[in-house]
This record gives sequence, C-alpha cells and structure tokens, in this order.
Amino acid sequence: MTLRTPRFIQTRERDSHGERDAAIAGLLAQPARALPKYFYDRLGSHLFDAITELPEYYPTRTEAAIFAEHGAEMARCIGAGATLIDLGAGSCEKAARLMPLLEPRRYIAVDISADYLHDALRELQRDNPALDIVGVGMDFSQSPALPAGLLADSPGRPAFFYPGSSIGNFTPAEAAAFLSGVRAQATGGGLLIGVDLVKPIDILEAAYDDAIGVTAAFNLNLLRHLNRIVGSDFDPKQWRHVALFDSTESRIEMHLEARTELLVRWPGGERRFRAGERMHTENSYKYTAASFAELLQRSGFRTSRRWLAPQEWFAVFWAEA
Ligand code: AVI
Repeated sequence: MTLRTPRFIQTRERDSHGERDAAIAGLLAQPARALPKYFYDRLGSHLFDAITELPEYYPTRTEAAIFAEHGAEMARCIGAGATLIDLGAGSCEKAARLMPLLEPRRYIAVDISADYLHDALRELQRDNPALDIVGVGMDFSQSPALPAGLLADSPGRPAFFYPGSSIGNFTPAEAAAFLSGVRAQATGGGLLIGVDLVKPIDILEAAYDDAIGVTAAFNLNLLRHLNRIVGSDFDPKQWRHVALFDSTESRIEMHLEARTELLVRWPGGERRFRAGERMHTENSYKYTAASFAELLQRSGFRTSRRWLAPQEWFAVFWAEA
C-alpha cells in the first residue's frame, strides 16, 4: 500500500496593513471594540485550551458527553465514506475521536493557519493510514467558502463539522449568513454543529469569569496581541476583565475595563479612556434548542436530528442540506 501524507493548502496570506487598519478602527470606535479573533495568538490558544479544563466552563465537557453517548447515531445519520470538513479544526481532537465511528474517506481540516494543522494532521494520518487528509489554512470567519474545486473532487457526501458553539461568537445575522454559506456547499450532505443553550445566569457568568482568573488572562492577553498588530502601548495591568450576561440579547458579553483614566498610543494615533470605560471584546450568544433549529431552517437547512445534554445545557444538531 502507498503511504499517504496530508496535503496542505494556504489561501492568500493575510493582509497585515488591512488587519492593522481594521484593528485601529475598532480602537477608535465609540465604544472601543476588538475582534475576538485577536484572542488567539499562541499564548491565547493555550489559554483557551486551559479554559476548556476549568470546572466552571461546562460547554466543552458537556458537548464531549453528547458525542460520546450519541456518536454512533450521528454516524448513522451521516453515513460512512463521507468527506468530513472540520471548521476550526485546531488540534483535530474532536474529529479524531469521532473518526472510528464516522469512517470518512476524506478529512478536510480548516483553520486560520495551515501551520497550526501540520503536527495534528501527521499524527492523524499515522492513525488512519487510508484516510485522504487535506489541511486548509484560511480565515473562514469572513466566509466559509472552501478553495475552488476542493469539494467538487471529494468522495462521498459533504459533512461539515462545527463543534464547540463557536457559532455563538457571531451575531445571529452573521450566523445566518455563515450557515447559508455552509449550506451552499453542503448539498447532498449536511452540518454537524454544537451550540450552547440558555441556562441560569450564575452558571453562564461563572463560565466566563472563573475563580482562578484564566478567562481574565485570556481576555487581557488580547491587549498584548493588539500591541503587536497595531504597535500600541496597552498595559494589561491597567485593565480589568468583565463578563456579564445580557438577557435581552441572550448573550455573554466580555469587555476590558480601564482601571484608571489612561492614554493609549500607537504610531500615528492615540485614544484616551476614562476610568471605568470599556472595550467590547466578545459576544457569546446562547440559543434555545427551538431558536437554533429556526436559525438553521432560515439558513436553508432541514434539521433532521438533535441531541440534548441533561437540563438542555447544550445541543448537537445534524442538519441536512
Ligand atoms: C470559542 N468560543 C466558543 C468560546 C465561547 O465560549 O464563546 C470562547 C470563549 N470566550 C471566553 N471563554 C471561552
């Protein structure tokens, strides 16, 4: 048998000037805002992994329990021999756990940079020698459209995989546009997606403001990432982590709050912050099982199955396209 090796595709290099201009526009906005993608530099990605281990952060283990209990049924819905497209694959751990049940013919792992995928995909290839593996580096938060031709020559039905409730980091309007983009590429297949659900406010707020401050460090680390992108002089010690649930919008909001009046400078610009003024860094929308089914439908999917955690804390949907 010929030994397969993963293929890698990196879409257009990121435009660093455009990125800097967009970050500065956020800093000058009223109120100031930063995109949540700035959480995920190297340290931020490690801090996020640590968050998933926290007792307060229930989503990761709750979703894992749903996959462990119902994975075989999910695999029956999807059918063997599919092309599995993992959006935000990272360490590819979640897909790797489902692999023996799903038995896909091709695995397309998508993440912001193909570099992040190298080690994980080589290891996955060792464990699945016959699997056709492709790593794609692209910023799919703007659009989930895969490189031209990649799905056209893929074997089996396309099964998109978007676990972790990352869909909650889009506004509902952005989520609908994103899901419609996935739907357009999933004809004949579908989408397996995890989504976090509304629950008592104390549980939600503790999940985003844990006792030992890992989520605070994750939020504050964004300032150091911004310093590298913009050339600014944010001092994380002058800021405080804030996380609160807005029940009207049904979302956790994360902010950074200035501890004192301060001036932040960067080449060509500056912004004064009053004491107590906030910069908005993330939304994490919480759905009900019914409102998410409705969102999937509005985006063109038929929701064929859903699996709920006890007390409806989290849901996984298989939505057919
Ligand atoms: C990646 N995303 C689904 C996480 C969430 O729960 O919204 C990001 C996160 N932010 C703070 N803690 C975790």
